[in-house]
Amino acid sequence: MVEWTDFERATIQDIFSKMDYDDVGPAALSRCLVVYPWTQRYFGGFGNLYNATAIIANPMVANHGKVVLHGMDRAVKNMDNIKETYAELSVLHSEKLHVDPDNFKLLSDCLTIVIAARMGNDFTGDVQAAFQKFLAVVVSSLGRQYH
Ligand code: HEM
Repeated sequence: MVEWTDFERATIQDIFSKMDYDDVGPAALSRCLVVYPWTQRYFGGFGNLYNATAIIANPMVANHGKVVLHGMDRAVKNMDNIKETYAELSVLHSEKLHVDPDNFKLLSDCLTIVIAARMGNDFTGDVQAAFQKFLAVVVSSLGRQYH
């Protein structure tokens, strides 16, 4: 089981309690699709992903960005049981969607970049470490089904 310090718990709760899902979710997913075009292959049904402008303006991308970010609420609410929390989503991404698990890390890094930009000076080294530890657990739990 993952151990969390009080600071880590407080930091994760704080970031998500102030989260602007409608801003950050679309920004993180669209950044991932732009910076790592390979990830576009899973979103063939999302219409026009022709260039960065189209990706950023695509309402399906925006909507899915919100879905993914809200998907992390489950981990925030169950920090002591993230693996079990994501058991079903892990099966979905592996067996149904066939998403290469390396992509979870790519998306989580894009999310870190967006959060850092939004938080500015509040994104200290300690906050970064806590946030990336949290995302690492999310990524590993989503990838559990693949091992
Ligand atoms: C669907 C969460 C990463 C591809 C979903 C859904 C959630 C979710 C909650 C909706 C499931 C449902 O409808 O029951 C997450 C989380 C991620 C993540 C928390 C954290 C890293 C990724 C990545 C990719 C991906 C990196 C691909 C590069 C997809 C696709 C769908 C999906 C293709 C179905 C979309 C649709 O057609 O509606 N994900 N996901 N996911 N995810 Fe993920």
